[in-house]
Amino acid sequence: MTLCNFFRHLLPLILTLFTSISPSTQQLFSGDLNALHQITYSLTDVKKTGGFFSTWNFTSPEIQNPCVSFSGVTCSVVNNQLRVVSLYLGTGLSDSPGLAGIISAEGLYQLTELTQLVIYPGIVTGFIPSEIGNRLKNLRIIFITNNRITGTIPVSISKLSHLHTLDLSHNKLTGKIPATLTTLLPNLKTLVLSYNRLVGEVPNFSDESQLIHLDLKNNLLDGALPKNFPKTLRYLSLSSNGLWGPVDSVTSSFNLVYLDLSMNKFTGSIPSSLFFTSLQSMYLQRNNFTGKINSPFLSTSTSTSTSSFELYGFGSTIDLSHNLLSGEIPSFLDSVETLFLNNNHFTGKVPESYVSNVFAGKMKTLYLQRNYITLFPMGEKMGTVLPDGVALCLRYNCMVPPAVGLTACPVSAGGPVSRPFGQCSVFNSGKLMG
Ligand SMILES: *[C@@H]1O[C@H](CO)[C@@H](O)[C@H](O)[C@H]1NC(C)=O
Ligand SMILES: *[C@@H]1O[C@H](CO)[C@@H](O)[C@H](O)[C@H]1NC(C)=O
Ligand SMILES: *[C@@H]1O[C@H](CO)[C@@H](O)[C@H](O)[C@H]1NC(C)=O
Repeated sequence: MTLCNFFRHLLPLILTLFTSISPSTQQLFSGDLNALHQITYSLTDVKKTGGFFSTWNFTSPEIQNPCVSFSGVTCSVVNNQLRVVSLYLGTGLSDSPGLAGIISAEGLYQLTELTQLVIYPGIVTGFIPSEIGNRLKNLRIIFITNNRITGTIPVSISKLSHLHTLDLSHNKLTGKIPATLTTLLPNLKTLVLSYNRLVGEVPNFSDESQLIHLDLKNNLLDGALPKNFPKTLRYLSLSSNGLWGPVDSVTSSFNLVYLDLSMNKFTGSIPSSLFFTSLQSMYLQRNNFTGKINSPFLSTSTSTSTSSFELYGFGSTIDLSHNLLSGEIPSFLDSVETLFLNNNHFTGKVPESYVSNVFAGKMKTLYLQRNYITLFPMGEKMGTVLPDGVALCLRYNCMVPPAVGLTACPVSAGGPVSRPFGQCSVFNSGKLMG
């Protein structure tokens, strides 16, 4: 996913590079040639024959210009010298085991005109050279993912004023996220540090931040959220960390289309303004959110009529499952295609618009199991069958669910079909409704 996104950002850059390349007779700047040589001393193909480096033949660089014959090397004329401007190490093919070894700091530091550094998935170990931000001032893209890089994120990266994309996901990085990474880099659009072992807090953002994509999921981050997030943000994932406290500050990113705060320790209520954005994918499951789901619309009396215009729709997903949410099932979520409200404390009856949208096949997944719901109002749909591909689960509530609401339940919905009477009396004055 990030790879795909990455190439979308990259394409215009690649195009401009190709038009500026001079594959002429000009020879590669000797410092860069030396750098490439050093890189081969510290990095090798996991696959011994026909791997990535098989095209890197240094015997006669005057005849086989590395800019033309070495795979992964792109050059451009800078100040009348032919310089390496991008380095893509590894084939990037899904069936390739990638590279092993370490990143040679000495080699890398000589490539002073480098704008793009990519290391494709492999088993590369060692540190990210700490002076990278002081030496390679033109870097726009650093993409070193799915390897075994250890150590901390060099603070010097915060000096790369042209940096656009930093993706170091799926490595073994430790330590804190340098605070300056999100305050000093006005051009940074994509920051992906997911699947590492980073600790500390989510860093603060400067008002000038233009970040669009922030992914810090699956780390060891803790603490409360920063006071505000960039307004430009469209994708935010902080899933699977140890973050706690309220989440109100994410509403400062009112351009979000994707939000994943699942599997943390967040508390408080879910801000109603999160339901009033273009946010079509929202994952807040497995936290400790409490309270009612408040409609983003001012008057509750209009909330039933909101179903006439579709707030959500095709492809939308909202997962609020496994929290401590209470009150009635909110009717304004009736246009969501995939909706998980299971394992909460919801009470009362399911809105009729849910029933009609489920039977119309618009609401494709509706999980309501393990709440305290008293009625799924089948009305005239009684006795009809669910459309193909619709999954409805109503198990373990304070009612005998209609037969259609039992079929698609996950194993975890388990237990008896209805909640024991004693549990329900707390919320529903002791009535077990059918
Ligand atoms: C490298 O290039 C030289 C001369 O162009 C050639 O003789 C040699 O076989 C090549 N080596 C490999 C490993 O391809
Ligand atoms: C963010 O700013 C707040 C208040 O200014 C401060 O308390 C907090 O430590 C900062 N967070 C980080 C990660 O530096
Ligand atoms: C939620 O709160 C309960 C009780 O306070 C606690 O036992 C549980 O671990 C919390 N869950 C999460 C995901 O923080």
